[in-house]
Amino acid sequence: MAELYGQAGMGEAMLDENTIPLIQVENLKKYYPVRGGIITHTTGYVKAVDGVSFSVMRGQTLGLVGESGCGKSTVGRQLVGLEEPTEGRIYYNGCDLAALQKNKKEMQRIRTKLQMVFQDPYSSLNPRKHIFEILAQPMLYHGISGKDTAEKDILKIFDMVGLPRTALGRYPHEFSGGQRQRIGIAKALSLNPEFIVCDEPVSALDVSIQAQILNLLKDLQKELGLTLLFVGHGLGAVNYVSDCIAVMYLGKIVEYGKAKEIFNNPVHPYTKALLEAVPVPDTQEKKKERRLLQGEIGSSTNPPEGCRFHTRCPYAQEKCRQEVPALTSLNCVDAKKGGAHMVACPVVLSGVGEAVHG
Ligand SMILES: Nc1ncnc2c1ncn2[C@@H]1O[C@H](COP(=O)(O)OP(=O)(O)OP(=O)(O)O)[C@@H](O)[C@H]1O
Ligand SMILES: [Mg+2]
Repeated sequence: MAELYGQAGMGEAMLDENTIPLIQVENLKKYYPVRGGIITHTTGYVKAVDGVSFSVMRGQTLGLVGESGCGKSTVGRQLVGLEEPTEGRIYYNGCDLAALQKNKKEMQRIRTKLQMVFQDPYSSLNPRKHIFEILAQPMLYHGISGKDTAEKDILKIFDMVGLPRTALGRYPHEFSGGQRQRIGIAKALSLNPEFIVCDEPVSALDVSIQAQILNLLKDLQKELGLTLLFVGHGLGAVNYVSDCIAVMYLGKIVEYGKAKEIFNNPVHPYTKALLEAVPVPDTQEKKKERRLLQGEIGSSTNPPEGCRFHTRCPYAQEKCRQEVPALTSLNCVDAKKGGAHMVACPVVLSGVGEAVHG
């Protein structure tokens, strides 16, 4: 089960072997320097990810949701080693990835276990190579397949992801968008991963194709026992594939819980606003007035003091401008055992949240 520990209480996460999460992230930060001036120097930092903690148990899916620019992809890129964290720790199967840097061989092995499916499959596929070459090269390099077996192995993956066997010699531009995303998934699967970051894998696709790809991911997860981080803008698709959901706002997690709980009983005003944005069929529900979020997500370079959402929150009080709220369990469930519903909102946590937000 995907579970998360409070951002303040990670030190307590003493786990026995049976409960070691496949992926655990502690206080992850990523600051990008902003350069300016005539003699180029650092004038500030984009705080893309600013103290994020969560864990994902084997075979489970954690959905990461939030508006554009809140830091979702930056979390994903760090998990698969495309970027180094500025601060914080990432554990794979209990091993600190930073501590493994010195052991190049082991690091290389682990990197194959952590893969990513990108939002725009076209830009992640080399247009000059046909699909067989794109898939076979890394498999041969990492010793996952031999020269004699690569074709057979790749055809097996083609069957799994629903690509025609005859497409092996085609180039990326000769596929439809949905097929290209299947190639992206095949590419990730080709290295026998345990964990895949799916970074908005369906947002560039037609609605009908979106459903096919989401179902494919769910089926593959079941079949191969994969663990997923599923990144999305809206709660609709994320809810469909996830066991648990973490809602991000400006570099921080503001609410976390089981997917059902977040979808049916959200408490953070930001999560509620995200839910209001999920399209509903033409029923009475639709006729209810929707409280859609006003304004833009703030700046990651100069985030608001206190609760970062307070500048857009209709319920903000003085304390929201002053205190940085910690992610806190609402339901007294041990976060380590899963099932915790956590929120970082001073108004909800002060107990008047139900009345205010209800
Ligand atoms: N390499 C970089 N250098 C500087 N700033 C960056 C870099 N990569 C990302 N950022 C900034 O970090 C913040 C978070 O970016 P990120 O791509 O993680 O957001 P996101 O939540 O994935 O957004 P989207 O939903 O649009 O994909 C943004 O303000 C972005 O401009
Ligand atoms: Mg992104």
